[in-house]
Amino acid sequence: MCGIFGYNGIEPDGVKKILEGIHRLEHRGYDSMGIAFLTGDKVECFKVAEDEKVGFDIKDLAKKIPNKKVICNIGIGHTRWATYGGKTVKNAHPHFSNGLFIVHNGNVENFEALKKEIDAHTLYSETDSEVIVKLIDKIFQDTGDLVKSIEKVMKMLVGANVILIMSKDHPGQLFAANKGGTILLGKSDSGVIIASDPSAFEGYHIIKKRNLETNEVAVIHSDFWDIIAKEVVTIEEDYLQDIDKNGCDFYMEKEIFEQGAVLRGTMSGRLILDKGNARLGGINEIARELRNVETFHFVGCGTAYNACSYATLLFNRFGISARAWIASEFCYSHPVFGPNDAFFFISQSGETADTIEVVEEIQIKGNICLGIVNVPDSRIARLTDAGVYIRAGKEKGVASTKAFTAQLVTIVLLAIYLARQRKMTIDTGMGIIEELILIPEKIEKVLKQKNSIKRLAEKYKEFKNYYFLGRYFNSVVAQEGSLKLKEISYMHAESYPLGEMKHGPLALIDPSFCSVVIIPNDSVHSKGVVNVREIKGRDGVVIAIVAEGNSFELADDIIEIPEIKPRYEYLYPIIATIPLQLFSYYMALELNCNPDKPRNLAKTVTVG
Ligand code: M6R
Repeated sequence: MCGIFGYNGIEPDGVKKILEGIHRLEHRGYDSMGIAFLTGDKVECFKVAEDEKVGFDIKDLAKKIPNKKVICNIGIGHTRWATYGGKTVKNAHPHFSNGLFIVHNGNVENFEALKKEIDAHTLYSETDSEVIVKLIDKIFQDTGDLVKSIEKVMKMLVGANVILIMSKDHPGQLFAANKGGTILLGKSDSGVIIASDPSAFEGYHIIKKRNLETNEVAVIHSDFWDIIAKEVVTIEEDYLQDIDKNGCDFYMEKEIFEQGAVLRGTMSGRLILDKGNARLGGINEIARELRNVETFHFVGCGTAYNACSYATLLFNRFGISARAWIASEFCYSHPVFGPNDAFFFISQSGETADTIEVVEEIQIKGNICLGIVNVPDSRIARLTDAGVYIRAGKEKGVASTKAFTAQLVTIVLLAIYLARQRKMTIDTGMGIIEELILIPEKIEKVLKQKNSIKRLAEKYKEFKNYYFLGRYFNSVVAQEGSLKLKEISYMHAESYPLGEMKHGPLALIDPSFCSVVIIPNDSVHSKGVVNVREIKGRDGVVIAIVAEGNSFELADDIIEIPEIKPRYEYLYPIIATIPLQLFSYYMALELNCNPDKPRNLAKTVTVG
């Protein structure tokens, strides 16, 4: 969380570059923004935060810079997700101590202890970041060696932390340091860019790039950087395509509506129809080891965890033992697993701290670690032994949409591949593939119902409580629908497997409580109907997601989704999720919530 951006180059429009960089990293947090830059021999620093203007944006930060023609070719910027201290200007980065300015991403877990190392009454903020810069300054005053001071303080920090420093006394240089986090260095035609993730490299012709590895410090010049050299890799250009909203009002809208195309991309070149199999280059090299795996464990958080739940149901359906884990719980729940088990880590960003903690734990145990990741070259992609990219393209909306459906499709491909290694026949594999390739078109059909779903959001906006309910595979859709609604419209929403209602949740049902039930024509349909009757019998309100042609008169409102052949019922979640994404999106708009910037959240969760 928190976005760090730095520029050290040869062009005079450094301030513009830094503002653009901050803007591109807003998905990492938007509680405050700030910039510090060197112009002549003066450092200027400006900040904006929620306490000053609710709903501020990058333009508000730009407006604070009085000299619109300022010449500057070096500076740092930050967009914050608050951890230590509230969403105020005083807590906004860059933080400073004498001539040192710092932007920071991470969590100093021994913050209280480190505070004792400095003169605490000189602190002007509540942040751990200020403590870091004060400590570096203190050591620098004694030693006169900035790099050594940075190294020393990084060693003192407990937790995952990344910093970028500008010093008035070192005018041509920036200093970056990493301990357990992610920071990228990119050499472009116009200078060096330093950023928390590759989305900030957009618009630059990046010639070389490198991750600053853990425990490294980089001295960054206008044309390159000094660190103990490791391999320099060329960035994947296609991931750097410029991202705009494509005529949509919000990234979330754009990302929902591009899902048909995204899923075609996820499948492209990976289906071998005549062999009823999937081609997954990323795991091909370990095909032999995968054949002997006893149980597959799926680990993730939030939406990615919902994808893990889906994977578990699907693998078991194909006769492969599987289990899903919430990453933040894994290490503390004494998990039992065998030496022949393998772990899949599902993460859109590939940077989620809770998930990374489990990767590191499993590496110690020596089991196979595999990634199902969207962002190429992200931390999980690099840490794992092998993996499969979901190819969703850049996802900017905090609420995950296209990444979720791309994760589900990737899981289907994986399940086919692994089941074909075991007992699945060619015919079965072929049948699944034939049905799977129809999914993007079916999604596009659901998306055409946007106006009627928008009207439903308008109709239901007064309801304050929601259940999302489904059985078997669609219990996962319920989980995801509930997460989406609460995340971006701040409605109270809970999800249950539909059959669980009678064991307690039914107690809350009354005419003011809305249940969204996912009940297509699958093997558990008739059981689900009984459960919906139980809700209606208590005067509950029901919106039902049903298969086309099913009028489902029990429900107050229905949303139809295209039918899937009963034997491939496990593909329903990929299309049944779409109306719930739209419902949440339009609900957020009805309630005047910004779906791209839900309160208290950030897209990339790099704190554990
Ligand atoms: O980047 P990751 O997939 O690892 O992120 C995991 C969760 O933080 C994420 O899915 C979160 O739940 C989304 N905001 C949900 O829409």
